Amino acid sequence: MKILDLIRDRQSQQFDLHDRYLNSQMVRVLKTIGFDKSYVRAEGPYLFDAQGERYLDLLSGFGVFGIGRNHPSVIETLGEILHSELPHLVQMDVSLLSGLLAERLLDKLPGPLEKMFFCNSGTEAVEAAIKFSRCATGRSKIVYCDHAFHGLTLGALSLNGDHHFRDGFGPLLPDTVQIPFDDLAALEQALQDRDVAAFIVEPIQGHGVAIPSDDYLPEAARLCRAAGSLFVADEVQTGLGRTGLFSAVDHWGVEPDILLMAKALSGGFVPVGAVACRRSIFDAVFNRLDRAVVHGSTFSKNNLAMAAGLAVIDVIETEGLIENAARVGGDIVSELAPMRDEWEFVKDVRGKGMMIALEFGKPKSVSLRTAWKLLETANEGLFCQMITVPLFTRHRCLSQVAGHGMQVVKFIPPMTLTDDDRRWIVDGVRDVVADAHTFPGSIWDLGKTLAGQALKMKAGSD
Ligand SMILES: Cc1ncc(COP(=O)(O)O)c(C=O)c1O
Repeated sequence: MKILDLIRDRQSQQFDLHDRYLNSQMVRVLKTIGFDKSYVRAEGPYLFDAQGERYLDLLSGFGVFGIGRNHPSVIETLGEILHSELPHLVQMDVSLLSGLLAERLLDKLPGPLEKMFFCNSGTEAVEAAIKFSRCATGRSKIVYCDHAFHGLTLGALSLNGDHHFRDGFGPLLPDTVQIPFDDLAALEQALQDRDVAAFIVEPIQGHGVAIPSDDYLPEAARLCRAAGSLFVADEVQTGLGRTGLFSAVDHWGVEPDILLMAKALSGGFVPVGAVACRRSIFDAVFNRLDRAVVHGSTFSKNNLAMAAGLAVIDVIETEGLIENAARVGGDIVSELAPMRDEWEFVKDVRGKGMMIALEFGKPKSVSLRTAWKLLETANEGLFCQMITVPLFTRHRCLSQVAGHGMQVVKFIPPMTLTDDDRRWIVDGVRDVVADAHTFPGSIWDLGKTLAGQALKMKAGSD
């Protein structure tokens, strides 16, 4: 079989095939908002369609393309591994590559993290953190935050702060407690009975790009330690340089007991997850000879994922990507921030490195307020679609709404963005936001269509 011929021959059928055999609702969503493009090539932060149009990808596969797509160094490394005939997944063996990647990663993480467990995804890393925390503390309760997103397997879903994801899948894990993010008093109260195994938190929440107050994470770590609970930093999205430092906890000098990574670690080529732990936690889990394989997964530590991880760290270092993420991301925020005073829908522009949010809210003027109400009655958070859709259809910038029922548009682009890309984003956002303030106008025609569809869905007629 010639796979590229197959792809070329059947490219035009991608949506039909999905409609027939996979997720039809996803096809409907893409067609409704005009995101149903057929991309045929990708390079760095860019996607190209069959007509050769170039798109700037501010979504980066939900954050896996931290170093951009199809990075030649990672491709070369993976090619070498594929052609090497190295032994692979021997299982009754320990692989060199996983040892090398663990050594390289731990060197970049806070000092007390001395051991590494590899798995195949972010959600698997969270499952491991739940099990390890329970085992190391002899307690069962896990504390997590509202709006948290830690993955969608059953354990991780039990720590999801958005009912939209949880509804219909219960009963979930017992012994979990949800508290507000950035609320130390709530955390202190949740920990007070000294029965909590772990507090799991994203240093910057992906949903909504919520950045905590300066004292939150250091103080949360201290409270956990005082209560004998583990402090787990879920850096599946924020890790590996995205926020302008290697780990987001570095912004606050926090030393977690467990730190989770995934997404960007293998350059978007191979599923991977990583759980960095204090030695004592590892020693509690793998505490006897007969428990040497008490937790694991068949494909974890596979050669391709491990080699890709090593190549990605090389790329991050040699290309200065963390510094670039901090500089270009910071410039995007500072160039868009004045919109807060210029445009009444814009409530906030915030970010760290390449994790950026535009937050919108109720306007002051009567006509815009009426229009806003129309959209929000149809579906909370719908206004943001009026930003992301024209940003894509007019300016070819692919972005996302940052969570259900919130007015936040989020950018998590590759860390490789140039100053030309920054201008592309800033000009596009400014144009679309300015237009959203013209009512009636073309963007509000789109808004009316979206609202109509949302109301139909609510009424159950679609
Ligand atoms: C903070 C965080 N944790 C965990 C996950 C789950 O990762 P995965 O989709 O690889 O299972 C995600 C995914 O978006 C995430 O953002």
